[in-house]
Amino acid sequence: MIPGTVRRTASGTAPGKVILSGEHAVVYGHPCVAAAINRGTTVQLRQRPGPTRAERSILSDRRLHRALLAVLPEEGVAVEIESSLPVGRGLGSSAALGIALVRAWAQMCGEDLDFAETHRRGFAVERVFHGNPSGVDHAVAALGTAVQYRMADGQPQLDSLSIPRLDLVILDSGRTGNTRRLVAAVAAQRPGIDPVLERIGGITSAFIEMLRQGAPLDVLGQLMSENHDQLKQLGVSTDNLNRLVRFALDAGAHGAKLAGAGGGGVVVALVDDSELLLRAAGKAGVPVLAVTVGG
Ligand code: PMV
Repeated sequence: MIPGTVRRTASGTAPGKVILSGEHAVVYGHPCVAAAINRGTTVQLRQRPGPTRAERSILSDRRLHRALLAVLPEEGVAVEIESSLPVGRGLGSSAALGIALVRAWAQMCGEDLDFAETHRRGFAVERVFHGNPSGVDHAVAALGTAVQYRMADGQPQLDSLSIPRLDLVILDSGRTGNTRRLVAAVAAQRPGIDPVLERIGGITSAFIEMLRQGAPLDVLGQLMSENHDQLKQLGVSTDNLNRLVRFALDAGAHGAKLAGAGGGGVVVALVDDSELLLRAAGKAGVPVLAVTVGG
């Protein structure tokens, strides 16, 4: 047995996330709402002689080994990773991997981690993949709920947000957006685009209030579509993402917006029932995923 461990095998799971409102503006102190989705990642660990390595993984990323060693010892652990999340589409696959890994290793060591410690250790993995992210992804992965997130004086302020069950359809652009480059492109346009960031902050505050009041879906959807229009103003949307938003609205969605950094990635659409949009997307050959949040 590896010193300090109490079990030979262990496992951990964590969900992915979708940003419902406030991406980009969150970097400048405005609120953002992200929610855990009903898809995620499971990590299985098994002690074995030799160097620690992934034996089965949906990720073939060259950073994976470094990410594993941000949590595990260099010797003695075989890792199997299974996930129902698409990789590189802004659905928090690396954060889910990080938190699942932290949980599995804690189980192998007989440790009972609270949220703060799970979050802190998960950040080490997120940094391998994303440099210096705002931290919202692994906070949602560790909490497993919806959250309201804001940076104040460089410190993340996090509140769990109780929301009703929402049916969402994720429409995939088929391209990976580069979060770091897009955040830099927004920064380069300041202070000219500050009023747009301000408006996104206002839309997100209204979205939070409407969620709290249990507002009807068309009200929430309207705010999501308005949010997308502002993200277009920031220059982070693409023709393809705009087409996917239009496609979702034409197929009866209450609202739709790009989710995450943009430049590719996905669109999230709020629907009554995902069937209608899934069928329309199937006919049009648009890759889609039905997910739920809240409830
Ligand atoms: O693409 P994602 O899901 O990692 O989201 C990026 C969200 C931004 O607000 C653009 C950046 C951040 O770190 O919050």
